[in-house]
Amino acid sequence: MEKREELYSGKAKSVYTTDDPNRMVLLFRNDTSAFDGVKVEQLERKGMVNNLFNAFIMQKLEDAGIATHFEKVLSSQESLVKRLEMIPVECVVRNIAAGSICKRLGVEEGIDLNPPTFEFFLKNDALHDPMINEFHIRSFGWAEPQHVETMKELTFKVNDVLKQLFLDAGMLLVDYKLEFGLFDGQVVLGDEFSPDGCRIWDKETRKKLDKDRFRQGLGGVIEAYEEVGHRLGIKFD
Ligand code: C5P
Repeated sequence: MEKREELYSGKAKSVYTTDDPNRMVLLFRNDTSAFDGVKVEQLERKGMVNNLFNAFIMQKLEDAGIATHFEKVLSSQESLVKRLEMIPVECVVRNIAAGSICKRLGVEEGIDLNPPTFEFFLKNDALHDPMINEFHIRSFGWAEPQHVETMKELTFKVNDVLKQLFLDAGMLLVDYKLEFGLFDGQVVLGDEFSPDGCRIWDKETRKKLDKDRFRQGLGGVIEAYEEVGHRLGIKFD
């Protein structure tokens, strides 16, 4: 497999084509951004930590029967993935209230959400990823109705697998964002799963172990990511 030109560069990852039209290389960079790119910093080791973290989680999800784009780790900061036709919708599940839902609905951070709640957001930087509903997705044709159903089912299935995985390691999976795409007409999990795109708290102390440490200037960002990884049994370089 040969890495070719850069196809796209996002806030924390870059995507490269390969000699196989159905495969791409994801490069996890050290760039860390928040508030739609207003706060940006380089955090040493982050690319490597997120690459290996993502590989571990994607493998767990594959083992549980959830199709993902992940193929294999290529280097400390790179992984090979299937090339998907991305669906421009973000799927968020929340087990505990935190972040935007607290502001939007005036609810206190830390409230258990029983059952967990689900939200769709439109992937659109210029519009700051507005919240949307299934009618919007249908009316504007952002995804086929059967694909929307599959995205919801898979996002909740991911919750069943990962909530338990984190709990067994003494952590609470507060919320997370997933993105999906199509490969051979099948809905497949894409993008990444790392502490950049989810909230994880220590079960006992509720210490924040995710990107909120960066957003809120709490310090110890990568140390927290590595602690989560170590508790899950991930070995970093
Ligand atoms: O900001 P909000 O509370 O809506 O985020 C919910 C979850 O989705 C958080 O874990 C956050 O890190 C993640 N998220 C993300 N990328 C976005 C929006 C949210 O990873 N563009």
